[in-house]
Amino acid sequence: RPVEPCTVGLFGALGDLALRKLFPALYHLDRAGLLPADTRILALAREDGSPAERLAQIGEHLRRHVPAAELEEAVVQRFMARLDYLTMEFLEADGYPVLADKLGPVSRLIAYFATPAAVYGSICAGLASVGLAERTRVVLEKPIGHDLESSRAVNDAVAAWFPEDRTYRIDHYLGKETVQNLIALRFANSLFETQWNQHHISHVEITVAEQVGIEGRWGYFDQAGQLRDMIQNHLLQLLCLIAMDPPSDLSADSIRDEKVKVLKALAPIAPEQLGQQVVRGQYVAGNILGKQVPGYLEEDNANAESDTETFVALRAEIRNWRWSGVPFYLRTGKRMPQKLSQIVIHFKEPPHYIFAPEQRPLISNRLVIRLQPDEGISLQVMTKEQGLDKGMQLRSDPLQLSFSNTYRSARIPDAYERLLLEVMKGNQNLFVRKDEIEYAWRWCDRLIAGWRELGDAPKPYAAGSWGPMASIALITRDGRSWYGDL
Ligand code: BG6
Repeated sequence: RPVEPCTVGLFGALGDLALRKLFPALYHLDRAGLLPADTRILALAREDGSPAERLAQIGEHLRRHVPAAELEEAVVQRFMARLDYLTMEFLEADGYPVLADKLGPVSRLIAYFATPAAVYGSICAGLASVGLAERTRVVLEKPIGHDLESSRAVNDAVAAWFPEDRTYRIDHYLGKETVQNLIALRFANSLFETQWNQHHISHVEITVAEQVGIEGRWGYFDQAGQLRDMIQNHLLQLLCLIAMDPPSDLSADSIRDEKVKVLKALAPIAPEQLGQQVVRGQYVAGNILGKQVPGYLEEDNANAESDTETFVALRAEIRNWRWSGVPFYLRTGKRMPQKLSQIVIHFKEPPHYIFAPEQRPLISNRLVIRLQPDEGISLQVMTKEQGLDKGMQLRSDPLQLSFSNTYRSARIPDAYERLLLEVMKGNQNLFVRKDEIEYAWRWCDRLIAGWRELGDAPKPYAAGSWGPMASIALITRDGRSWYGDL
């Protein structure tokens, strides 16, 4: 689909997300020639000051967040000329006629909400009150609520004015290049798809590790914790893309229908299973790349009593024919040794083994899908050691596909570039439907309720480690280990 001419209204335009990600993403779209000439961007925030001052502030952040090699002065000028600024209190109804005036006649408004979800409903009502609803697509940032009930309240407040087909819920992982590649890998290669089930796969690992800590977001993060911040959305979305049945076509609803089936089939984890299946952790002071970093409770503005988790590892099961008996081990944390997001599919051993018994533990095919950094795919295959004196000695070697080598000259677009582009095209494939969010919350709510019931305090782990020891026990108990932990 082509990009339609539109005006982007960016609510919360002076917030961290907008300054760090959204303006740079729009700049890159402009630089790539993907924004129609008449695309305008209206930055909306409550901060007063003259538009010129605020636009200068946005321009300054743009230059800071776009790498120098990608800053082209002519494009920066063209991009900045598209921008305008309006001070606005989103909760106050009398601001919306002013907004409508400022916008003038628009054929299509993309209203991007980079604000707390509590104001989404008011913005929608405000847009509707000035007759803009029909021409608007709304884009909702996460987190949408902090549990099933609150996410329903947000979704309902938006749905009172906007139908699902004009509501775009962001999970930025869905915009990552390699995440999209999961669909190509699975459904364009019959080689994998015929093996993609409990007959051939023994278990699956999904790791999303971050080196950063809380980065000045303590207030938000302490209310959320790693389960709500990462598992409820990004990791469960990855799990869905790995586990879903082939959709009948690439349409948004065909894919989303299949993802919902996976979420519905996730086995609930009861409080009595938590000890065996879930590990919560919280980082204490430690060392990352030779640098001493503070613990979670010593971060700026921290409440030293907090028992919020910054790490979660868990063992999930999907109750259906395809995945019966195949554990999905999920793990995510802040202040880990490196930034690493990867999915590892472990295939079962051959059914009849003919090589030397001592080599047997070696035998395994693994498909490693690296989402970041060094995006790529590698398939570990067994081969024979070369040489006359080696006999039938086995070794494991990778068949590698590295995207940075294959597409050497191309930069990998940021997830937000793709997502903004898709909204402008009116394509909902990469956005999360209401029922997906709600099934994911339902599963996470049970876990959180179990923690609360048991008074389960997070286990400490040193910043710069791979999490609490208990997370290693979680997988070794099943006779396995986390792939590639260094
Ligand atoms: C966000 C979380 O959704 O994803 C952050 O709120 C996290 O806590 C971020 O740091 C990770 O995204 P990425 O793209 O850097 O892996």
